[in-house]
Amino acid sequence: MLLGPPGAGKGTQGKALAQRLGVAHVASGDLFREHEAEGTELGRLAKSYMDRGELVPDHVTIGVVLQQIHDPDCAKGYILDGFPRTLEQAQALDKALGEWGEAIDLVLYIQVEEEELVRRLGGRLTCESCQAVYHRDHSPPKVEGRCDVCGGTVCQREDDKPEKIRQRFRVYQEQTAPLVEYYRCQGKLKEVNGDGSIQEVGQALRAAVAG
Ligand code: AP5
Repeated sequence: MLLGPPGAGKGTQGKALAQRLGVAHVASGDLFREHEAEGTELGRLAKSYMDRGELVPDHVTIGVVLQQIHDPDCAKGYILDGFPRTLEQAQALDKALGEWGEAIDLVLYIQVEEEELVRRLGGRLTCESCQAVYHRDHSPPKVEGRCDVCGGTVCQREDDKPEKIRQRFRVYQEQTAPLVEYYRCQGKLKEVNGDGSIQEVGQALRAAVAG
């Protein structure tokens, strides 16, 4: 599991780590955005919360993610990115995994200075179709506004606008930060410095997984 504030690099590192370990990458935000792109009722509901920088209600989120990790795609294992984000979600996850005879192996807590988080999120660009992530300063798409991977439209997420970023930080502090202690008490937490380059953070995460 990758735990950390908005912009810590969970998506960037989660995809790379999952590929390296040969497991699935389960990102709750991506799942909601996929529903939104498909125009489902769930997608419309999730969007109304995401656009305000608030959390999608627990009863909706828990169902969506538990269904995903029960999918055959996750049979070899998975990296959770962005879930759980509340105590209720963490407890529901523990309960469901217990019933399935499974458990979370490791929680990697990526720590990044707030100033750096704002810089990262303020410059992030995302493909509306395949969710590929770019950054205006250090990794823009080759053709402006077009995704290198699928040719889709690349733009700024609604919740990456400055006032929404501040709201997401508030929500993180109030509702998600307490999970650090929750997993520390379970003896599963490892802290990783996320302030370095994408390569440096990737290396630190791989070392934490190996050690
Ligand atoms: P979600 O999509 O999960 O957003 P988030 O947690 O706020 O995380 P981000 O995607 O913003 O950041 P990240 O840590 O993945 O960073 P990234 O790698 O992209 O959730 C969005 C919304 O969905 C929530 O607000 C909520 O409404 C809803 N939701 C999702 N899960 C939920 C849940 N469990 N319960 C309820 N609601 C839920 O990197 C960011 C940028 O920085 C990129 O441009 C990247 O290129 C760059 N970057 C990354 N690493 C580095 C580095 N080391 N150096 C320089 N730049 C870097």
